[in-house]
Amino acid sequence: NKLVGLVGWRGMVGSVLMDRMQAEGDFDLIEPIFFSTSNAGGKAPAQAKAHTTLQDANDIAALAQCDIVITCQGGDYTKEVFPKLRAAGWQGHWIDAASSLRMEQDAVIVLDPVNDNVIQKALAAGGKNWIGGNCTNSILLMGLGGLFKADLVEWVSSMTYQAASGGGANHMRELLKGMGVVHAAVADELATPASAILDIDRKVAHTIRNDVPTEFFGAPLAGGLIPWIDVQLPNGQSKEEWKGQAEVNKILGTEATIPVDGLCVRIGAMRCHSLALTLKLKKDLPLAEIEALIQGGNPWVKWVPNDRATTVQELTPASITGGLQVGVGRVRKLNMGPEYVSAFVIGDQLLWGAAEPLRRMLRILLA
Ligand code: HSE
Repeated sequence: NKLVGLVGWRGMVGSVLMDRMQAEGDFDLIEPIFFSTSNAGGKAPAQAKAHTTLQDANDIAALAQCDIVITCQGGDYTKEVFPKLRAAGWQGHWIDAASSLRMEQDAVIVLDPVNDNVIQKALAAGGKNWIGGNCTNSILLMGLGGLFKADLVEWVSSMTYQAASGGGANHMRELLKGMGVVHAAVADELATPASAILDIDRKVAHTIRNDVPTEFFGAPLAGGLIPWIDVQLPNGQSKEEWKGQAEVNKILGTEATIPVDGLCVRIGAMRCHSLALTLKLKKDLPLAEIEALIQGGNPWVKWVPNDRATTVQELTPASITGGLQVGVGRVRKLNMGPEYVSAFVIGDQLLWGAAEPLRRMLRILLA
C-alpha cells in the first residue's frame, strides 16, 4: 500500500475529509501516516496502522518518505513546506486544499466529475501537484458541468450567497453568537405577542450595530450580509470574484476564456454556498434540452424543477447541508432573450467545495 501522509487532518476541512475517507473505506487502501505541526510524538488517530505516532509536519525528511501527501493545513503551511520538499528532490504526489499553488502552471485544480480529462492528461504528462478548487467554483461546476461539457456557455454572471464556513470554524461560531445576541436583545418582547414590531426592530438594529461580534468577519453578519469576500484587487474585484473566471477556466482547461464574473456576498448560512447565475448560451436551445444536459452532468446533480413548492423545500441550505448532492434549480429563460438562462446552484461548501475532490484525487492516484 502507498504511504500517504496526512497534514491538517484535525481542522474543519481536515475533519470532513477524515470522515469521508472513513465512510468510503479509503484507509483500507493506504498506509496512512499522520503529521502534526504542534503535537509531533503524540498519538495518531485510530485510522493509523503501523505509524501510530504523530510525525512533525515540518520535518522534510519525514514528509519525503511519503508517496502521497494530502494537506488541509492551509496556505501558509503549503508556502513554507512545499518548496522545501520539492527542493529536496521529493517526487511524490501533493494533494492540497489551500489556494497557494492553484494557479501554478504545473498544478491541476481537481474536480474529477467535471475535469477528469484534464487530470488524466496531466497524470500522463507526469503531473504531481493536485489542488482543490475554490468552493464556489467547484459547486458551480458540479451543478452546471453538463452545460460546460457541451460547450454551450458563452459567459456566466455569478452572484453568490456564501456561507460562514467559507471563512472557517471561528466564523461559524461568530455567526451563531451573533444570532444569539440579536435574539437575546428582544427575547422578552418576542414572548409578548402584543409588543410592537417596530420597537423590536429598533432594538434589533441597535444591537446589530453595536453588540453583534465582528472579530472574524469584520462586520456584523447575523441578521445581515457582507457584500465583500477576501481582499480587494486594484480593478475593483474582490479576490473571491477574481477566482471565478481564473479557476473555472483552469479547471475546464478551456482554450478560449469563458468570461465568469459577478459579486460575491457573505450571508448567514452555516455551510452551504449558493450561486444565482445568469448564463448566456451560445445558442437558443429548448428548455427541456438544457435541463437534460444539466441533469446528465454528473450523478450528484439534484435537479429541482422550477416550481415554488419544490424549490422552497429542496433548493435550500436546510435541504442540502451535510450531503454530497448539489442542487440545481430556478432554471428558466430570461427576458433578455432566448439564449439567456437563469439557474440557482447550491452545495455543501465543506464537501464538494473542499474535502471531496481531494479524496477522489487520492483514489485516482491509487487506481
Ligand atoms: N473563499 C471561500 C469563502 C472559501 O470564503 O467562502 C474557500 O474556498
